[in-house]
Order: sequence, then structure tokens, then C-alpha cells
Amino acid sequence: MKHLWDIHFLLLILVYLLGGVTSQVNPGVCRYPLGMSGGQIQDEDISASSQWSESTAARYGRLDFEEGDGAWCPEITVEPDNLKEFLQIDLRSLHFITLVGTQGRHAGGMGNEFAQMYKIKYSRDGSRWISWKNRQGKQVIEGNRNAYDIVLKDLEPPIIARYVRFMPVTDHSMNVCMRVELYGCEWLDGLVSYNVPVGEQMNLPAYPVYLNDSVYDGAIIYSMTEGLGQLTDGVCGLDDFTVSHERNGWPGYDYVGWNNESFPSGFVEIMFEFDRIRNFTTMKVHCNNMFSRHVKAFRQVVCYFRSDSDWEATPLSFSPAADEKNPTARFVIVNLANHMASAIKCQFYFADAWMLFSEITFQSEDDPTHKVDDSNTRILIGCLVAIIFILVAIIVIMLWRQVWQKMLEKASRQMLDDELTTSLSIQSETLGYHTHNQSNTTNAQESNSTYEHIFPLGPDYQEPSRLISKLPEFSQRTEEPSKQANMVQDGVPHYAEADVVNLQGVTGSNTYAIPAVTMDLLSGKDVAVEEFPRKLLTFKEKLGEGQFGEVHLCEAEGMQEFMNKEFLFDITEDEPVLVAVKMLRSDANKNARNDFLKEIKIMSRLKDPNIIRLLAVCIHSDPFCMITEYMENGDLNQFLSRHEPEGHLALLSNAPTVSFSNLCYMATQIASGMKYLSSLNFVHRDLATRNCLVGKKYTIKIADFGMSRNLYSGDYYRIQGRAVLPIRWMSWESILLGKFTTASDVWAFGVTLWEILNFCKEQPYSQLTDEQVIENTGEFFRDQKRQIYLPQPVLCPDSLYKIMLSCWRRNAKERPSFQEIHRAILEIQS
Ligand SMILES: *[C@@H]1O[C@H](CO)[C@@H](O)[C@H](O)[C@H]1NC(C)=O
Ligand SMILES: *[C@@H]1O[C@H](CO)[C@@H](O)[C@H](O)[C@H]1NC(C)=O
Ligand SMILES: *[C@@H]1O[C@H](CO)[C@@H](O)[C@H](O)[C@H]1NC(C)=O
Repeated sequence: MKHLWDIHFLLLILVYLLGGVTSQVNPGVCRYPLGMSGGQIQDEDISASSQWSESTAARYGRLDFEEGDGAWCPEITVEPDNLKEFLQIDLRSLHFITLVGTQGRHAGGMGNEFAQMYKIKYSRDGSRWISWKNRQGKQVIEGNRNAYDIVLKDLEPPIIARYVRFMPVTDHSMNVCMRVELYGCEWLDGLVSYNVPVGEQMNLPAYPVYLNDSVYDGAIIYSMTEGLGQLTDGVCGLDDFTVSHERNGWPGYDYVGWNNESFPSGFVEIMFEFDRIRNFTTMKVHCNNMFSRHVKAFRQVVCYFRSDSDWEATPLSFSPAADEKNPTARFVIVNLANHMASAIKCQFYFADAWMLFSEITFQSEDDPTHKVDDSNTRILIGCLVAIIFILVAIIVIMLWRQVWQKMLEKASRQMLDDELTTSLSIQSETLGYHTHNQSNTTNAQESNSTYEHIFPLGPDYQEPSRLISKLPEFSQRTEEPSKQANMVQDGVPHYAEADVVNLQGVTGSNTYAIPAVTMDLLSGKDVAVEEFPRKLLTFKEKLGEGQFGEVHLCEAEGMQEFMNKEFLFDITEDEPVLVAVKMLRSDANKNARNDFLKEIKIMSRLKDPNIIRLLAVCIHSDPFCMITEYMENGDLNQFLSRHEPEGHLALLSNAPTVSFSNLCYMATQIASGMKYLSSLNFVHRDLATRNCLVGKKYTIKIADFGMSRNLYSGDYYRIQGRAVLPIRWMSWESILLGKFTTASDVWAFGVTLWEILNFCKEQPYSQLTDEQVIENTGEFFRDQKRQIYLPQPVLCPDSLYKIMLSCWRRNAKERPSFQEIHRAILEIQS
């Protein structure tokens, strides 16, 4: 790539030195990525009309990036007749843009969203927006066919802009996500617009020649104002103006021309406006000089300069030597003598009946390339010769190596094969690493060698799809729970700025996600939990185990002293109390210890009849313990599995039963506990029957140690033995976007309710594999009526199933609150 770049650079300069058939910008070479993928474009310069979540914000719309949720996604489904959504890039200065690239959402290779079509709008000043059209007047650009391939499209005509908007277009309502890149180079002319009389029609005996400006992007009435067009598109007309570069161009396509009969004053006036005051050195006007057709370059030009509000009194005048011998088109160079101006008005005098221009470019002192090639031409040529020699040497060496390699190949095929295998495996490893570490390292390298060049291979081409982008690489999100939590909570509007206190928990999960704001409120007072004498605990059974500790079921003597009156425990004095003891391993690291103390702080503030209460702690010595309530009937999952619905079957089997109204009673308690948690902005993240404990008389308390129990390992989706996720209880946005909110807790409540009505006899989506469950969440996202809902349990009345379905609404905002759910179930029960 590097060598090729050099060759291009060389060619560019050679072409320039050899008489300049090209203008300042050569669209064939001006195809450098402008910094979406390379990172030169800053996050703050990428914005959007809306975003689906914080993790699909505009800044994630960078081509080939995998951060966040792997793309920019607008908040609203893009409707065919509603073209409001856009991703906007501010390039900070005017750029000549020749090529655009688009790609769909990465999401660890799970992304399915992309833009099939899009439009481009651009602006040079940030206020007047222009819709890009191709040379045939078509605005819509064909986009992606899948989420992973990069599709590059030439902009014909290219655009000159500072701001560019990508606007997804669909033919039906759908979700789109985009990653984009712009390719081009800086527009050193600084020209923002030219105002010029409209081009005319020349009637040759055989056919008419249309000399209008067919790609002018400003207003066209009698004259053309506030736009740029063919005079700045980088395409110079041919010697014979009736022939066009453009395949579909009509005769005269490349030129803008005027006839002297229409201009009694004898000149055509063109006004040029620039982005700022510049110190102008030259203006180059590419003129046709086909005098056999009465076309000649101008006879004289008179230019006026304006730097502030007034035009300079004395104009600059220049008369090129008339050329009646050479009919070739040429650049006429006008020396602008270091005039300072932000606008230039030039009057071009006719030398014959017709005057035809195809390009006009400006050079100013602050244009670095110009300085170089004007002052140091000799040195440059010297360098070029040297570089050419070096390149030739490199090519020879490369060829020689190829020949040598072929020989080697023949000699020891077997050896080479082995080598290939190892190098392949190394490659796949680095790829894996790449997705993990979000390509920080590679990007750093890329941004050093700023310009990687995209070659014009054709009107559009696709990069070969990379295998890695197709792999269901889910680990990126799940292996870093802390990152996940941060990302997640960012998306929640009412505590958008909050950092999230993220608990590792003894069980290796992070159950409660709590915004830091709430945490501060909580930590207003000191921990109000007392130290419990460890020796009064009697081990009964291990409930579970996690990365950082274990959960034991114990009997505690004398616990009554540690419970204040508000406890509604119906226990008799002196009887040992069943407690759950979360213990941190003594060798746990500092982070785990800190998290454990934080968890104690948080737990100690949770006081609700339907939430498991923290009773006491042992933190004066290792191992740290947290003693919480435990309920004699164990968890709700096991409890219901042992029971049957009231009815025939139960009578026959003599199994214990639970009435429908008691099922409802338990459900209302869960809703009530969750109502309490949500009022504190706590997100549970793992609501399920396995996390609800059952006491006497069907009382329920919500706990959080389900994840640590082997019994339920099948309920968690395990990635490489590390991260675990209760995917069958998780909302689609939690799985796909890593977004955990009260609304996703509501989703989990719906699943929990479904479990209850099924007496926990069946795992949710038991007919689907974990992978299929994840696929199904993709269907929820796409919302094309292909998503599968959990079926209505036999026992479940329509009214209750309706509540479940409302919990699984695609739009999180449309799901009911726990308050509403609580009320609704109470009504059903009564
Ligand atoms: C230029 O002339 C051609 C041929 O008559 C016409 O089709 C085209 O619309 C014109 N373009 C503009 C911008 O006036
Ligand atoms: C414009 O550039 C020339 C050459 O560098 C310099 O001599 C001159 O002072 C500049 N003019 C202004 C007004 O800065
Ligand atoms: C236009 O140019 C032609 C050829 O030079 C000349 O004969 C004619 O008088 C000019 N017309 C006007 C109005 O200047």
C-alpha cells in the first residue's frame, strides 16, 4: 500500500509539472479516507438526528469500527416517506469528496441492521444544505446488502463541502444502522461558490452543443448563484469541446460557454466567493481554444478584489497572448499578485464569438502544496529521479523474490504448507484480539500513516467480507461487565450522566445496577448493619458458588437481637433462624472486597417486605460475610416445581397444590418488590423465579443469588466459561444493545410470570437453543412479525397473558411500569 501511495504521489506531481492537464484537484487521486475509520475526525464532529441509545450514538458510525454497539442507529424506525434521520460529519474545512463508503452494524458480528439505500446532503457553510444528485439527476444511492461488507460508491459528480449528511432511505419501514467513511482530499482553493451567467446553447449545423453547467448546485435562474459545479469538478474538457469525458454526456458537457451576442458589454462576469480572506497568488482558467469553431480563450481579464465589505478601487488587469496557432485547450494562468480577498469578481472579455471554460482554480499563499512546487521544483525533480530509481529497485527485488519463492515452493511444498497453517492460526488469533480490544492498537497505527489510499477500481466495489464479522462473537460485550454496565446506564435518560456503581458480587454476577446518584443518596449515612459473631452461625448447606465466594445456608442463633421491630418475621424467640450467608473468599482481590462493602451498603438500605433483607455482617475479620434473610420454602422455582395446579391431576397424584389466586398473590408481591426497587432506580438484571424466595403463607421476597447456583446453570448463557447471562429472561435490547433498565426488568417480570403460570415445569423457550434465543431477539429488533413470543400457559387467563405480552413490547417506553403491573394483577386476582 505504501509503495503504491508513493507511486501515486509521484504521478500527481509529474502530471502537475508536465504542463498541468489536470486542475488543482485530481479526482482520480483525491481519494483518501478523511478520518472516520482512522480517527482523525473527532467524536464531537460526528452528530446525528437521533440515536437509538447511547451505545449507538453518532460517534459509533465510523466505518470498520466495532465500538459501542457497532454503528450509529437512529432512534426511530426509518419510514419510506420520512427522511428525517441523518448522520452528520463536520470536516472542519472544505473538502473535495469523491467517494463514500458505508457498512452496517457490527455488534460483535451479530449486527443485522444496515442501510439498503441512502441519500447525501452536504453544506459548505452549515446553513444551506444541498441534496447530492448524480449526473443523471438521481439522488438515491444503493447502499448495503448485509451488515458486514463495506460498499464504496463514487460520487459523480464529486462534492465540495464541509458538512456531509448520510440519510438512510428505505422502501418499507425498518431499522437501519450505519457506519460510514468519506474519501477525498482537502479543497485548498477555498472557493465556496461562483456566480455566473447561465451557459448557452451553440447550434452547430449537425447538432446542438449544450454549454450549460449541468452539475451546478446553487440556484439557477437567469444566472447561477451560490453554487459550485462543473467549473470546480476537477474534470478538464478536451480539445474538441463537442466530445465529452462523460459516457452519457452530451456534446459540450464538460464546458460552460457563452456567446458574445448575449453580452453587449463584451465580457462575462464571474464572481467567486471564498471561505475566508486569502492571499491569492494565481488563478488558473481552463479554456477551450478551438478557433475553427469561433471559440477562443479570453482576450483580457479584469479582476476586482473584496476583503471586507468594499471592493478595491483599482482592479487587476491581465491580457494573455492571443494564440491563433494552437487549438488545444489550456490553462491560462493569471497572476493575482498577492491580493488579499474573500471575494473576487472577474470580467472575462471575448476574443471571439464564443468563450468556453471547463475549470477555474485558485492558488493562495496559505496553500501548502503550492508553495512546495513553486519554490522547490528543482529539488523536487531531483528527489523524484531518486525515488524512481528506488522504486525500480524495489520492483526488481520484489519480482526476484517472487521467482525465488516459486522455486522454494516447488522444492519444499510440505514445509510451506506447515508454515501456512501456523501463520493462519496466528492471524485468526490476532483477529480475535482485535475484536476484543476494540481495535485501539491498530487504529493508533493507522492514524500515524494518515492516508491510506483507495484506488479507483470501478464505479463501486466491495471489500471481501471478513469472516470475523460473521462470527457470533458475543464475548466482546459480555466479558466486561463493568464496561457493559456503564454503557448501559448511559442510555437511560433520567440518569444519563450517572456513573454506575457496579457490583461484582460474591456470586460473580452484578445483580443490581445502581446509578451513582442513587449511590450517593444511599451513602449519606453510615452502614446501619451490625457485626454478627461468626461463631453463632451453623453451616447447613451450600446454596451456591461464584467467582469470588460462596453462598451458604446457615442457622443463626440469637439473630432476634439483630432484627429490629420493623421485621415482620413470624418466628418464635430462641428458635434458630435460617439465613443465607454470602461469603467472600479470603483471597479475593481488593476490587472484590470494595465491591463487597458497597454491596453491603446498598443492601442495608433496601427495606421492603418483598425484598430480601440484609440482617448483619461479619467484616471485622476474614472472610467477609453478608447475612441475609432466607425463607424456609426455598426458591420459587423449586417450590412451584414441587406443586401442581388445583384440579383433577393433582387429586390423582396426591401432589400439593397452589391455587390460581395464590399464584396471583405471589406475582403481586414480586411486582410490589420490583416497584420498590424501580422507585430507587435500581435495576435488578436477573429477575426470575429462581431469585424469589418463598416463606410461610406464600410470602415472597426477591433475592439475587440465582446465578451462583449450579442448579440453574442451564438458565444462563455461558461464554467461554466466563460471562453468564440469563438470556431467556432478558429483553431484546439487553441482549443486543447491552441496555439494562427498569423496562428490561419489566420484560424479565413477564417471563417470571410465565414461569409461575407454568408451575416452572418448563424453561422459557425450551424448544429453542441459546443461539436461537439470541436470533429471536434479533427478530424483536427487526420487528417484522417474525419474533416468537412465549405461548399462553394453559392456566393463564387472557387478561394475565395480555400483561405478559405488554411486558414484551418492543418499544421499552410502551411497557407498563411495575406500579401498573401491580395494580393490574391485583384486579385480576380479585
Ligand atoms: C443542460 O442542458 C441539457 C440539454 O438541454 C438539459 O438536459 C439539462 O437539464 C440542462 N441542465 C441544466 C442544469 O440546466
Ligand atoms: C501575501 O504573501 C506574500 C508572499 O508570502 C507576502 O509577501 C505578503 O506579505 C502577503 N500579504 C499579506 C497581506 O499578508
Ligand atoms: C461577436 O464576435 C464576432 C466574431 O469575433 C464578431 O464578428 C461580432 O461582431 C461580435 N458581436 C458582438 C455583439 O460583439
